[in-house]
Amino acid sequence: MAVHIRGKYRDLWAFIRQPLDRARRIRRASADFLPPDRLQTLTTALHPRRLELTVQQVRSETPLARTYRLVPAGQITGQASNQAGQSLPPFRSGQYLSLEFRIRGVRVSRPYSICCSPGESAQGNYYEITVAGCENGFVAPHIWEQWRPGSRVYSSGPLGQFGYEPLRDHDHLVFLAGGCGITPFRSLWRQIRTGEPSLRCTILYGAASPAEFIFREELEQLAAEMPARFQVHLIAEEADPQWHGLRGLITGKRIRELAGEPGDKTYMLCGPPGMHRFVERELAALDLPAGSLRKEPCGESEEVFLSLDYPAAARDLSYTLLVHQGESTRTIAARGSETVLVALERAGLAPPAQCRSGQCGYCRSQLLAGRVYVRPETDGRRQADRKFGYFHPCSSYALSDLEICVPVNPLPPLPEPEAAEGSPEEALRSTGASPSTEVPPSAQAPSSRPAGGPTKK
Ligand code: FES
Repeated sequence: MAVHIRGKYRDLWAFIRQPLDRARRIRRASADFLPPDRLQTLTTALHPRRLELTVQQVRSETPLARTYRLVPAGQITGQASNQAGQSLPPFRSGQYLSLEFRIRGVRVSRPYSICCSPGESAQGNYYEITVAGCENGFVAPHIWEQWRPGSRVYSSGPLGQFGYEPLRDHDHLVFLAGGCGITPFRSLWRQIRTGEPSLRCTILYGAASPAEFIFREELEQLAAEMPARFQVHLIAEEADPQWHGLRGLITGKRIRELAGEPGDKTYMLCGPPGMHRFVERELAALDLPAGSLRKEPCGESEEVFLSLDYPAAARDLSYTLLVHQGESTRTIAARGSETVLVALERAGLAPPAQCRSGQCGYCRSQLLAGRVYVRPETDGRRQADRKFGYFHPCSSYALSDLEICVPVNPLPPLPEPEAAEGSPEEALRSTGASPSTEVPPSAQAPSSRPAGGPTKK
């Protein structure tokens, strides 16, 4: 092969002329703005960073669960907003919204699964989410108290990977739901009912008591109208003289009895952390084929100490957190029983966060010094991240003093909706809870007991 050498003087001359050539091209270039990139415009429309929504309707599902219908802001109140008159971004059944809040000075987010179908959403230009009341929570009581028709709400666009994928999943889906973890399944069964005639579903839904079955009427109707495609099994954990249905937990034996032998089925699991732990153990005994279980992890858990490998001594740890964020460095005091993300939010250093379950990577941070415990069920780190000291504050608990580097939240803080009612610390103390009391996404049990799994203390 011949190699053409231009000569060192010609190359040197070209190198010297380079800045002059560049300056000449800049002088001749148009001063007009570049025309909008259509692909970029489409991408931004489909994946907006923040949506402004308005509560249009509030429905009570059970005494402990309410469904909120959200529409683009301005549609109801007529107020100016950047979403008014626009179509909401489309989504896939099983996805969630990450809602943003500013509650008495604390900036927090919570993921809630969308519980209407994509078709209904496209037709009516709305999303629906169901929120379980939670006495000791931080966000759920705020929603229950503050949200009424006309309230302004801020959220991400639809996110998440929990859903049916025809190239990957079997035609027989087994839904394993606990408590408020039924909400993503509602979107799925509504979509499947009208849009996926080849699919069939076996639904096992556990709740602490019969009164806490959300969408019970709809489920019973579904089973009655299409028995060949939808088998519904409601399982109440507690004894109730009025309940003549199944009782107990969603065990492996029960899953096998009601859904049949594994092999040609895809299992989908969503529920509170206690239920996840319990059902995953039961499923392990069934020896499912690889890749046949889909999970919607329930990130922040106040029951981290129930994880078998959690070091008991860390439960009452108080530690110092040295945080580098952008140009600033701060030292804050924190507790080992809460996630590092909650400690950051409490201190007003909220990094970006969406799933709060160690899966999306938005809160990915660098651990510069110290040790953390990461719950195995929510450890979504890549191998390289583990090796080079990255972690997700939303699913990690400190085991010692920490020094970390966290990303800056690219979104500006929300406007304060009303006069501040005390400091963040007072806000948290007054509820007796940390901002992580509810467990997302869609995994809030209607009561403090995780339905379908062991009872929470
Ligand atoms: S918020 Fe998704 S990984 Fe932390």
